[in-house]
Amino acid sequence: MRVLVTGSTGDVGRALVDRLLDGGAEVHALTRNPAAAARFRAGVEVAVGDANDPELLDAALDGVDSVHLVADLVAPHVVARIARSQARRVVVLSGFAQGPVEEAVRQSRLRWTLLRPVEFMANALAWSPDIRAHGIVREPFPELRSARIHESDVADVAAAILFEGGYDGRSLRLTGAAALTTREAVRVLAEVVGRAVRVVTTSPAELRAGGMPADEVDALVAWAANPPPDVSTVLPTVEQVTGRRPRSFAEWVVEHAQCFR
Ligand SMILES: NC(=O)c1ccc[n+]([C@@H]2O[C@H](COP(=O)([O-])OP(=O)(O)OC[C@H]3O[C@@H](n4cnc5c(N)ncnc54)[C@H](OP(=O)(O)O)[C@@H]3O)[C@@H](O)[C@H]2O)c1
Repeated sequence: MRVLVTGSTGDVGRALVDRLLDGGAEVHALTRNPAAAARFRAGVEVAVGDANDPELLDAALDGVDSVHLVADLVAPHVVARIARSQARRVVVLSGFAQGPVEEAVRQSRLRWTLLRPVEFMANALAWSPDIRAHGIVREPFPELRSARIHESDVADVAAAILFEGGYDGRSLRLTGAAALTTREAVRVLAEVVGRAVRVVTTSPAELRAGGMPADEVDALVAWAANPPPDVSTVLPTVEQVTGRRPRSFAEWVVEHAQCFR
């Protein structure tokens, strides 16, 4: 199997490249960063440039039978180019909203699967500077619950589908194994890292004063008042696809503990 991986230097992409190599696939990795080429394991064929560049894309697609496509990174014309190549399968990493790329994939002749993960555990890295400097996490809505997912579980799902197929024409919502509030997640982090961390609730006025545009603050407040149940509903999808329970937030913190010390 030969797979083209977009977003290959991202949290999901790096893990996916490793899974694919471990499983014996040939990997073509797209990155805009020439220095990244040196960091991939031996055997990865690196294409340097923008995933939207038609010439680069056509060259990177040469000989490829499957594609891991990060929807946010590309324009819909990329889907048309993939469909014109000999690639048959595309696994699309999508966000909360569905856009024209997802629509182009649905309308294409490709065998497609859309992955729609909830928030990544890696978003907790944004807490690192305040934790390291002050032992605090500033959050506007610390009681909001999230079924946050480990990025490696997203990669495992993508790899399983690329290797084994079986989810053609499906849109899969992916979550972790538990829905923790931010306050609970910070407590887990503090225990694992072994330091006291206090949650400081920031008000909408403080968010605005800190530079967040007023319309974004308003949208955040409205969202928090009525959060979609999707973000906190634990689903069995990761285990169904991979045969393994999703990694816990505590496991993620163990892997990233040095970022918080
Ligand atoms: N974070 C979340 O909570 C969350 C939740 C649900 C879904 N998602 C989706 O998951 C996707 C992947 O997330 P991630 O954390 O693995 O990746 P990421 O950190 O967002 O990075 C993706 C990689 O894509 C590359 N890239 C960006 N623009 C590019 C372009 N035009 N052409 C080629 N490469 C480009 C960048 O690498 P180079 O600089 O090496 O090119 C970057 O390292 C996101 O796009 C998001 O839509 C995220």
